[in-house]
Amino acid sequence: MPSTALEASISVSNVAETQGFAQRLGGLLQAGDLLVLTGELGAGKTTFTQGLGLGLKVREGIISPTFVLSRIHPSISNGPDLVHVDAYRLESAAELDDLDLEASMATSVTVVEWGKGKVEQLSDSRLEVTLLRAGSANVGEELIFDFHEGEDEEPRTISLTAYGPRWEKSEALADLLNEFESSRK
Ligand SMILES: Nc1ncnc2c1ncn2[C@@H]1O[C@H](COP(=O)(O)OP(=O)(O)OP(=O)(O)O)[C@@H](O)[C@H]1O
Ligand SMILES: [Mg+2]
Repeated sequence: MPSTALEASISVSNVAETQGFAQRLGGLLQAGDLLVLTGELGAGKTTFTQGLGLGLKVREGIISPTFVLSRIHPSISNGPDLVHVDAYRLESAAELDDLDLEASMATSVTVVEWGKGKVEQLSDSRLEVTLLRAGSANVGEELIFDFHEGEDEEPRTISLTAYGPRWEKSEALADLLNEFESSRK
């Protein structure tokens, strides 16, 4: 188990802020980085990934994969490519192996929606991003929703947990979080 390098949460008010933060995060990502995105259906994982794509300067067109589990968005700026995976429908380790993420890891930033518990072995470091609707809460076993489908002006809490040497060596993420917090004040 890699050790925790950083743990933090930010609050955003709408899609623009979610994507603005993700864009800035995308700007500091490097080839080999692994991001694991968690959050209920519609929490904003794909929306967040679109922001990452802007910051990474990769070919646009990031969408929710329906039948395709993995898509590669090539860099348009000599940086790493973005490999966007939706592991929601992945049913076995063999199916994951078929995606051959190892092969693209070294030259890409790999972002896996619903990847928790499935892709950690790909790297000794990872960034876990959890999106939580402000209006939803786990009460016992029941998930309580209080939101309007499709509205862009909904708050989210975005939690980040960074594991492993990649993030232990870097101050950039902590700096970004501080900057983001002070820019919202
Ligand atoms: N602050 C916000 N951040 C992100 N998305 C938001 C926000 N407010 C509202 N939304 C809306 O929530 C929805 C998020 O959908 P998205 O496809 O990104 O979720 P997802 O987590 O990828 O879902 P899935 O598990 O089905 O892949 C979009 O319709 C988006 O407009
Ligand atoms: Mg999605």
